[in-house]
Amino acid sequence: MLHGKTIVLGITGGIAAYKAAALCSKLTQAGATVHVIMTKGATQFISELTLQTLSRQPVYTDTFDERDPSVVSHIHLADSADLFLIAPATANIIAKMAYGLADDMLSTSLLATTAPIMVAPAMNVHMYAHPAVQQNMNTLRERGVFMVEPGEGLLACGYVGKGRLAEPEYIVEQVERFFADGSRGDRLSNVVGALQEQQKPLTGRAVIVTAGGTVERIDPVRYITNDSSGKMGFAVAAAARDMGATVTLIAGQTQVEPPEGVHLVRVESTQDMYDAVLELFPTADVVVKAAAVADYKPVIRAEQKMKKTADRLMLELERNPDILATLGKQKQQQVLIGFAAETNDVERYAMDKLRRKNCDLIVANDVSRDDAGFRTDNNEVQIYDRNGLVESIALTSKSAIAHRIMELAIERIVQEVQAVE
Ligand code: CTP
Repeated sequence: MLHGKTIVLGITGGIAAYKAAALCSKLTQAGATVHVIMTKGATQFISELTLQTLSRQPVYTDTFDERDPSVVSHIHLADSADLFLIAPATANIIAKMAYGLADDMLSTSLLATTAPIMVAPAMNVHMYAHPAVQQNMNTLRERGVFMVEPGEGLLACGYVGKGRLAEPEYIVEQVERFFADGSRGDRLSNVVGALQEQQKPLTGRAVIVTAGGTVERIDPVRYITNDSSGKMGFAVAAAARDMGATVTLIAGQTQVEPPEGVHLVRVESTQDMYDAVLELFPTADVVVKAAAVADYKPVIRAEQKMKKTADRLMLELERNPDILATLGKQKQQQVLIGFAAETNDVERYAMDKLRRKNCDLIVANDVSRDDAGFRTDNNEVQIYDRNGLVESIALTSKSAIAHRIMELAIERIVQEVQAVE
């Protein structure tokens, strides 16, 4: 599947560097021409000869080791790439990429390339969770860099947690998907291009985004909620902010740091979210309802911690208000965007929600998959409007999807304005 593709594989200095050998071999077997760049750290873990033998190409480690006088190696490599893949990527290379440092062959080539970039991080669980690393990764995502999330499990350092390099087979699958979806490269570069040109099409516009899961209390220490991490809603808020909007982010329970530069309103229950959204709705231009809203709440909320009594306990629940449906009824100039998380019959349920709740767009995803949806950094979505499918976006970062959602919202604002004129 990778015939005719040139992949520059950057290997950095972590114990997972040994897995890069299998990765290089699989990419080559799939037909790709693989040029390997190793950092000095990587050569401590795995030999250049191994990668040279597997790729059947010279391996680069030193910016100044110019073997062919007719070209400048780092520029030549950067220009030749259809894809730049960094696996494993340490916290250090991620930080260098975020800040644009160029102090070795790999970081210099990365600055020189205009090819799409895919990064597979691998590091200790605490390093991965560190706000600096997360912030740097977000910066990269916002630039359209595709992240292949690390797995969870026993790490070489002895810790158990998130930080293990994704398996080489999985990374190859992501690379193949990337090339299979020909349009995505163009789309990503469009978004990146718009950002680089500092176009701020949402300047002067008010955008409300809801994110995370709402929480319905049973008693002071127990509650009902759901698996939403807030990542998708946060990515949408960040995208709207980058496009110049004044963003109010109304967030329930979340598992990641909210973006900077937005007005954050924390809420707990569906009713709280309803009140906060409805108050701001009249002056909003765009509302994106990415929150996973609890449909039911306990009829009685105990004031004190409930004590166990009988063998069975019945918890009676009653319906919460439907925020999106209420907005749909009150809608005037606002572009209203809902989400539909489904485990089956995605299109049918999504179109049904769009009509019932009077949305302009609905973003649907299949939450039965492991590699997309709740808690992951990536998602695969279909976006519908009243006339049916608008766009199907193959597995990519939530940040890239968020930018696309906001671009579609902008198109609809423009249509509104033209209709009024
Ligand atoms: N939503 C809402 N208020 C609710 C329930 C859902 O605003 N009480 C919004 C969500 O934020 C999302 C969209 O409606 O944008 C669809 O949510 P989802 O949970 O998928 O749908 P439901 O309306 O709950 O339908 P069902 O339970 O039948 O799947």
